[in-house]
Amino acid sequence: MPEKAILKLGDKTIELPVIIGTEGERGIDISRLRDETGVVTYDPSLGNTAVCKSAITFIDGEKGILRYRGIPIEQFTEKPNFMEVAWLLIFGRLPSKEELARFRDRLTDNELLHEGFRHQFQSVPVDAPPMAILSAMLSQLACFHQELLSLQDEESFEDAAARLISKVRTIAAFSYRRSLGLPFIYPDPKLRYCANFLHMMFSIPYQQYIITPEIEDALNLVFIMHADHEQNCSTSTARVVGSAKANLFASCAAAVCALWGPLHGGANVEVIEMLERIHKGGVTPEECIRQAKDKSNPFRLFGFGHRVYKNYDPRAKILKATCEKVFAKLHHKDELLDIARKLEALALKDSYFVERRLYPNVDFYSGILLRAMGIPTNVFTVCFAIGRLPGWIAQWKEQHDDPTSRILRPRQIYVGPPQGDYVPLSKR
Ligand code: CMC
Repeated sequence: MPEKAILKLGDKTIELPVIIGTEGERGIDISRLRDETGVVTYDPSLGNTAVCKSAITFIDGEKGILRYRGIPIEQFTEKPNFMEVAWLLIFGRLPSKEELARFRDRLTDNELLHEGFRHQFQSVPVDAPPMAILSAMLSQLACFHQELLSLQDEESFEDAAARLISKVRTIAAFSYRRSLGLPFIYPDPKLRYCANFLHMMFSIPYQQYIITPEIEDALNLVFIMHADHEQNCSTSTARVVGSAKANLFASCAAAVCALWGPLHGGANVEVIEMLERIHKGGVTPEECIRQAKDKSNPFRLFGFGHRVYKNYDPRAKILKATCEKVFAKLHHKDELLDIARKLEALALKDSYFVERRLYPNVDFYSGILLRAMGIPTNVFTVCFAIGRLPGWIAQWKEQHDDPTSRILRPRQIYVGPPQGDYVPLSKR
């Protein structure tokens, strides 16, 4: 007998079906509630609402589990390959050798930007925020690939996905070069995804950037750790925009804007700025913890806390271990890592953080790793976006392919003034 929830509303009793997910999660299906009762549910910030069924990513926030298409995140740490993970997320299974090779070729074929497009970087101020450039430029891809605005078959979908995933790193690197007034470095078709990004960021004319395998692997891992995280703020944005049948470029550009926020992807920048403030002596770690607990102070301990994880974020665990491994191997030292460890230790024994179950999240250690690669702080959130792009694309596709999906259009409870009359300007 399928489980049902019983809702008593006035003198009415309503039976609501219970949906059970692969891992036993239960959700009360209220999709017919308003039609049958005229009543809506109230869940500001959607903390208790599943907005879709999804087969892409599984998170158990209580246990600190994250899986991509059923595969635990820890299994992607040994031989990191971001393109394989991107394909897995988007197409639902690990690619064969031929499929991966074909996808890589498509990426290589699409790594250049249209020259007209390239000139647009000159029109933005040198100090423009890279996330603003990224979202504008992703949106503009729609002008240059109008044949991909409506994706009717798998072939054109794969083409659009490959273009986005390939060009995002060219756009990211060009916006960084623009900020320094340096010449743009064209992508090198011989290089793999991450190596090519590092080359476009750091080579200079007639002097190729030397790629260290440890750095390339670490960047691969950073991208993998960010690749999808089910219905987070930016992914939900991509889904909302996509639900109106807006194109993939527009949906991903909108997701970049959401990611920019300091409570979401922008937190990786805030973490480093917080650690730097401590390092420069502006504040002690103890004072920083005190400020984060003070409800009259808007400051939060960035890189801590999560809507879903009430345990250590498994991505933070992996990135922390990777920092230590890479730093030891390259004999690299960064005092910000010591400060981060100290802050973490202080927070994890403080009753405020313990009671609220606030642990380090993915942003706490990612910036320290990106710094070690020479990536400047204002490009951190852009790196998050490059990593998250396959997730946005996968989620957009899942919704696009679902014949039952409808435009996402929440309800509200109106609490404004009751009906009134317009007063002419002369009488006000
Ligand atoms: N520092 C201090 N207090 C915190 C923090 C923090 N980082 N995070 C949560 N709290 C407190 C919060 O004030 C609230 O306290 P109270 O119950 O007394 O009102 C309680 O913990 C529950 O927090 P919440 O704001 O209701 O939690 P949320 O699920 O709405 O927000 C969050 C989640 C990630 C926005 C929040 O934890 C936060 O602002 N963290 C800092 C920013 C950050 O690191 N963001 C990156 C998130 S992970 C990657 C990503 O998704 O981009």
